[in-house]
Amino acid sequence: MSPSQPERASPVRHFLTLSDFSPEEICALLEAALHLKGSPRASVSPLAGRTLALLFRKSSTRTRVSFEAGMHQLGGHAIYLADRDSQMGRGEPVADTARVLSGYVDAIMVRTFAHAEAEELATHSQVPVINGLTDLYHPCQLLADLLTIRECFPEVADGWEGMSVAWLGDGNNMANSWIQAARLLGFELRLAIPEGLDPDAETLQRALDPASGARVTLTRDPAEALAGVRVVTTDVWASMGQEDEAAAREARLRPYQVDGPRFRQADRGAIFLHCLPAHRGEEVTADVIDGPMSKVFQEAENRLHVQKALLLHLLDADR
Ligand code: CP
Ligand code: NVA
Repeated sequence: MSPSQPERASPVRHFLTLSDFSPEEICALLEAALHLKGSPRASVSPLAGRTLALLFRKSSTRTRVSFEAGMHQLGGHAIYLADRDSQMGRGEPVADTARVLSGYVDAIMVRTFAHAEAEELATHSQVPVINGLTDLYHPCQLLADLLTIRECFPEVADGWEGMSVAWLGDGNNMANSWIQAARLLGFELRLAIPEGLDPDAETLQRALDPASGARVTLTRDPAEALAGVRVVTTDVWASMGQEDEAAAREARLRPYQVDGPRFRQADRGAIFLHCLPAHRGEEVTADVIDGPMSKVFQEAENRLHVQKALLLHLLDADR
């Protein structure tokens, strides 16, 4: 923060994981996103004059475009900064970057490898920091996934207890965020993950602790996870940064592929979700992801709506 910047009266809110928000806040955010989805280009510009910096150390299609379009629709502006074009990419300290950007912009979104780097950015930032994906969590994606469930199963507006989700595959950043979502909202989450690719130990333990009240289970058997669930979801076998491990991962994860016969073990009205990008023939077969119960493009569009609601909330422009 430069000497000319005043101390802010209230502590800055960040969104690094779903656990940064209360269950009530998450539910309110989903309702706000639904409302925004119904009136995408309202004449008001609640973020007029506000700027969002987008820091990317990894590739993106959805995250970049949905944040840029969302800021534009709200009357604000977004600045995209990839590693190759920025001093951060040449080794300028993250803490210095946070202090400098705090003097220019109203919020920072970061997509990076180590989650600790997003935390460090937040520690030194005077403006809200949003996690646009780290190796550990992908909370913006989970907001979009929850909104898609909210649209497909409107009864969750009265409580998430009746919802059940099966996660098949790698215990990656998406799996970790699903675990947090299940713990916070109280829905049942059945994880089918091969040994050696388990989710983050701390995130999982918190949800497995009976005192948490969470209904999260971990099995090695996809059939056990799938039986009768209302939502089936998965993700790539090798996440960004794990390209060298792709062959070894494929061997372990192939039995967890969501194919037609496996998908039919879920409830008759079950939907399929995937954060995208997807690899047809690997974690999911084309008949499932391109089939009638797949909601993946609705889910992708929902990134825009939830992130607009998130920006309004964090920038205190939602009232
Ligand atoms: N789902 C998701 O985050 O997509 P991108 O990598 O394209 O941003
Ligand atoms: N688990 C994937 C998600 C991509 C949106 C990755 O981290 O690459």
